[in-house]
Order: sequence, then C-alpha cells, then structure tokens
Amino acid sequence: MAHPRVDAIVEQARAAVAAAQSSSELEAVRVGVLGRQGSLTQLLRSLGSLAPEERPLVGAAANEAKRALEGLLDARLAAASEAERQADRSRRRLDLTLPGRRPPKGSFHPLTRVHDEIVAIFAGLGFSVAEGPEIETDYHNFEALNIPRDHPARDMQDTFYLSESTLLRTHTSPVQIRAMLAQKPPVRIIVPGKVYRRDVVDMTHSPMFHQVEGLAVDHGITMADLKGTLELFAREMFGPRSRIRFRPSFFPFTEPSAEVDVVCFLCHGDGCRLCKEGGWLEILGCGMVHPRVLENVGYDPEELTGWAFGMGIERIAMLKYGIDDLRLFFENDLRFLEQFA
Ligand code: PHE
Repeated sequence: MAHPRVDAIVEQARAAVAAAQSSSELEAVRVGVLGRQGSLTQLLRSLGSLAPEERPLVGAAANEAKRALEGLLDARLAAASEAERQADRSRRRLDLTLPGRRPPKGSFHPLTRVHDEIVAIFAGLGFSVAEGPEIETDYHNFEALNIPRDHPARDMQDTFYLSESTLLRTHTSPVQIRAMLAQKPPVRIIVPGKVYRRDVVDMTHSPMFHQVEGLAVDHGITMADLKGTLELFAREMFGPRSRIRFRPSFFPFTEPSAEVDVVCFLCHGDGCRLCKEGGWLEILGCGMVHPRVLENVGYDPEELTGWAFGMGIERIAMLKYGIDDLRLFFENDLRFLEQFA
C-alpha cells in the first residue's frame, strides 16, 4: 500500500531520522511527523476533505506509514539513548593511569631548622632545654646579670620597657638567673627563645629575633670546657673543617668574656666578600659566669664555676645558608621558604 502524498512524508521522515545525531534530535523528528501538529497527523486529520474514493487509499497508507515510523523512531531512540548513556558513563569513569595531584608539601622554616639543629647538638652533649618568659623583670634581664643601672643596654633606645620594672627581654640571659634560682648545681641547659630590641629593621636588624643561651655550672668547670664545647658545636653546625677562635670581649655577666669567630666557610680564612676580607665570622658571645652572678642566685663562687654563651639563631642561619638579608626570615615569601624543603 502506498500513496504519493504519504510517500513524500515518509521519505522526508526517514531522511530526518537518518540525519538525527542524538535522542533529542530524533524526538524532534517524531514531534514533527507524529506529534499533534505533525505532518502525518495532519494528513490523517484531513482525510474528510479528500475525495471519497481517495480516503481509504490515503488512510490505509497513512496508518501503515504511522506504524512503520513509530517502530523506526522507537528503535532509533532506544539505540541513541543507550549510546548516550554509555558515552556519559565512560566520560565519568576514573582514569586510574592519570598521575595523581600532589598536595603541596610544607617545609620547616630555616630558623626552625637551625633552632632544631642547635638543640640537637647540645642535647647530644647532655644539655637540657629550658625556657623563660619574654616579658621579664628588670631584675632578671639586667640587675641579677650584673648590668648596672647606667649601662647603655638599659637605655630606652635599646629596651622595650612595659613599665618601670618590666620589659621585653633583650636577651635570653635572664633565663640563666631563673634556671639557677630554680635548681641546684650542676646546671647544663640551653635556652632558645625570642628576644626584643628597639632596632629599626634593616638587613641585619630586627626588633624581634631569636637567641640560644647556653649555661654550664658545676664544680671545676673551666674555660677549656667552654672552648671544647664550642669547637664541637662549630664542627657539627658548619662542617668538620670549621675552626673557631676566641677574641677577648666584655659582658657584665661574664669574666673573662670572649667573642667567638668561626673560620669563613666561603674562603676558609683567605678573606672574601662574606667575611669582609678578615677570614673570620663572628658567631656568639660567651665567658665564665661572673662570680657576682653566681652570688645573686645563691651559688657559692668559691665552690662553683661555670660558663655561658649566647648566639643569634638568625645570624647562624645567615652564615650557614649564605643569606645576606635578615628580613627574608620574617617576610615568609614562599619562593624563599621553598628553598629549605
Ligand atoms: N646575652 C649576650 C647578648 O645578647 C650574649 C652572651 C650570653 C654573652 C652569655 C655571654 C654569655 O649579647
């Protein structure tokens, strides 16, 4: 059964089905032919206006075409939907061969690393870690350390005073006093911590920086012990070839006092830009604990001797890593910090 008017619609519909790329396009074809306004639906609806002898012919052909197109569309729609489901599923599937995204890994701040290293070296020598308050009394920070009232270190220029008698500690040495007041000898401690000075920020100054204090008090402790201890420290920190030297110096709380230099590890003593041609780099201050300091904490200076040292963690880190600007430690620029991963 066929009829030219029906054939034209069927042909168009089949072409449209063949051209359709997706289930939604097939659905559009179905609506265009078989929907309420569809071309075949309209033809069927207009049968009454045809000549009586035409009606059964066109009607039969149109109904047959309708069934055929419905069957075709159902099959194609089912196939397209299934293909789309599969494509969707494979798009979503995990590709286990893709390299994973690494979570960004943190690293220790260079000051933390140097701090930990200093603590580890002295822990290995039997020192224990002590701490003290950053808000100190004038007594612990100055008076008990034999720093007299008119000493320049007390000047408002250098010290952040909080009141007449309290201040931000200017060094870790007040913890010497606290430790000795709190325990009987022998004392063997290191004291890492923050210290504060009224300095303007520049390449080598910061109003807050870090120190490590060392203190050993016992019967028969000598300057030779101090020198041996610091020699070992320098070799551990700066390498087995490093040497140190003592230069006479002055601190009110040690007598005798010395400043310690380490041989420049860039030029090994020949003189270069880093050591300003001197061949040596200053790393700390130290000395034998002043008898008056021992008296101040109730230790008998006739019976006990001791030594102390104080070093700046920033300074050690700058020397160790060849950093020429102290501010880098506090800006926390990741491009700087990532170099210590
Ligand atoms: N406290 C001194 C300073 O800050 C360093 C020091 C500590 C010197 C212990 C001698 C003994 O400069």
